[in-house]
Amino acid sequence: MSKIAIIGGTGVSNMPGMTLNHREMVKTIYGAPSSPLINGEIDGCEVVFLARHGGRHTIPPHMVNYRANIKALSEVGVTHVIGLAAVGGIANDCVDQCVVIPDQIIDYTYGRSHTFHGAKHDKFEHIDFTQPYSSHIRDRLISSAQSLNLPLVDHGVYGATQGPRLETAAEIKRMENDGCTIVGMTGMPEASLARELGLEYACCAMVVNRAAGKVPSGISFSEIEKNLKGGVDHVQKLIAEMLSKGL
Ligand code: HPA
Repeated sequence: MSKIAIIGGTGVSNMPGMTLNHREMVKTIYGAPSSPLINGEIDGCEVVFLARHGGRHTIPPHMVNYRANIKALSEVGVTHVIGLAAVGGIANDCVDQCVVIPDQIIDYTYGRSHTFHGAKHDKFEHIDFTQPYSSHIRDRLISSAQSLNLPLVDHGVYGATQGPRLETAAEIKRMENDGCTIVGMTGMPEASLARELGLEYACCAMVVNRAAGKVPSGISFSEIEKNLKGGVDHVQKLIAEMLSKGL
């Protein structure tokens, strides 16, 4: 049976419209996830919600226990995961508050526990990561965004940076040359860990600023706050629309 989880990112520490059934503290062999798992329903569809940065938004991107998060979701029977993400826009069409459903990833992170493999003498398997995201969930997200007429970019390359600082203009130029169209700090290793455990995973990103060096006025944190509100509103409507039709 299918069961979906939403991993909420910056600005999304709960899902309005979600009826709450129970909170579940889960412990995994990798430690505790970022927050209790909130079990509930959106539009009649059973959902598990996990706040990636903790309930009070205290866990920065490089300190998130990605392994515990993904393992905990898998242990409670989750089969599908949508990772919500606030991102910077690199490509010209990735403008403030638009929704982006990326189809590729370039990983620039380092020093994160990025695999479930590695215990001594453990047998390991490689994963195919040619297409890092679930095409089924991506299609559902894209058609739901289209039916709501949301500002949407239905493809893109998510460049995952280490954070928590934002990038330099030269770093963004390099990422653009590499082919990145959006930049965020939490997309990896979340996506590849989900693949290692056989979970269907997709990213639903919202642009909250133009990336470093992309606008002469520079990055304004008050603008980010404003765009976050608009972006979160879009993404919450999108998830509700998608789930109203089931998985
Ligand atoms: N860079 C990296 N992560 C981000 C950004 C950015 O510009 N905006 C939101 N998350």
